[in-house]
Amino acid sequence: RVVAVIMVGGPTKGTRFRPLSLNIAKPLFPLAGQPMVHHPISACKAIPNLAHIYLIGFYDEREFALYVSSISNELKVPVRYLKEDKPHGSAGGLYNFRDLIMEDSPSHIFLLNCDVCCTFPLPGMLAAHRRYGGMGTILVIKVSAESANQFGELVADPMTNELLHYTEKPETFVSDRINCGVYIFTPDIFTAIQNISIQRSDRANLRRLSSFEAIQSVTKTLPTDFVRLDQDILSPLAGKKQLYIYETMDFWEQIKTPGMSLKCSALYLSQFRHTSPHLLASGNGTKSATIIGNVYIHPSAKVHPTAKIGPSVSISANARIAAGARLINCIILDDVEIKENAVVMHSIVGWKSSIGTWSRVQGEGNCNAKLGITILGEAVTVEDEVVVVNSIVLPNKTLNVSVQEEIIL
Ligand code: GDD
Repeated sequence: RVVAVIMVGGPTKGTRFRPLSLNIAKPLFPLAGQPMVHHPISACKAIPNLAHIYLIGFYDEREFALYVSSISNELKVPVRYLKEDKPHGSAGGLYNFRDLIMEDSPSHIFLLNCDVCCTFPLPGMLAAHRRYGGMGTILVIKVSAESANQFGELVADPMTNELLHYTEKPETFVSDRINCGVYIFTPDIFTAIQNISIQRSDRANLRRLSSFEAIQSVTKTLPTDFVRLDQDILSPLAGKKQLYIYETMDFWEQIKTPGMSLKCSALYLSQFRHTSPHLLASGNGTKSATIIGNVYIHPSAKVHPTAKIGPSVSISANARIAAGARLINCIILDDVEIKENAVVMHSIVGWKSSIGTWSRVQGEGNCNAKLGITILGEAVTVEDEVVVVNSIVLPNKTLNVSVQEEIIL
């Protein structure tokens, strides 16, 4: 049997995701019309003998209750949210629930970061992991040398795929192969985490006993139950024939900012062409709007037949898109109203916002720049004929004059 664990983190981690994280836990923010965490969860469907999916985080249970019960019914696999009382780090969080996870006596445990966007090639990883015979296999991808330092950089043996060296977010270049935050382990991972905790408490004791300031400062460490998977486990175990890599040639992105969520929504929409074409709007029928490329429209949304939508647009529940509106590369959240002849491009429009007639809400489309897209928080009103370019607008604001490159608090 196999168990999958998805690390969802908690509210303090989502600050870069503001203003969208003011309303919703980041793992539940919709990408291609589905909660962020839904994409790794649905990839788990392809794992044979999957006994349980656990989400581990320190958000309030109530935030996940509705989603977890509906997805359990849909998948016919129990999905449970497990709340940590405080952050224990990416490996410490897993270790905290080891007894529960081991109840199914799994032979393998998948561990997935929730804030990555990829095809999650889990069956391929499982097969490779069995061949290698190690304790863990890490999904890796080759990225540009300039961007690699935002991630864990690693070196592997080109013949055996053994992980030889691992450095988390290094200051000087190590490698353009990086850790994708998707892993498979045997239950031995729990012993490896426990060993780190024991080492930590030994050092803490040494510090307490020692009166030498030098020893005290060298051994100043994190709490014994706080263990990071990357620095504390992967780095020391590299080169010990316990860890291996599995390289993906598909897309992979990390979702830390709203700009990246727009890019990842588009990636998942294009993946739907192959995996879930029924979720994409077809544009067939006389009453349908003109649809271009990959578009998701929630069944409760109302889109006027003269509107033109796409490519890469996702429209959530109860949104209303009026006659002549034009939408390109954007996420329209629940209960938004877009009035006649308004244009929305390279933007995220927050829940219950309203965009006036002939208005334009747009970004230049650079998802990596801080102000490369426009983001409207919840219940923002853009009045008629107002132009908003490359701006971030916090919840409950009304814009009656045009703005460009501004953060409106
Ligand atoms: N439950 C729980 N508890 N989850 C946590 C905790 C914790 O205390 N700390 C982090 N997480 C979750 C985050 O929500 C995220 O999904 C994942 O664990 C990793 O988060 P970080 O430890 O903050 O690392 P990172 O995202 O900056 O980088 C990691 O992922 C990259 C891939 O996206 C590293 O492993 C990098 O090497 C890797 O490239």
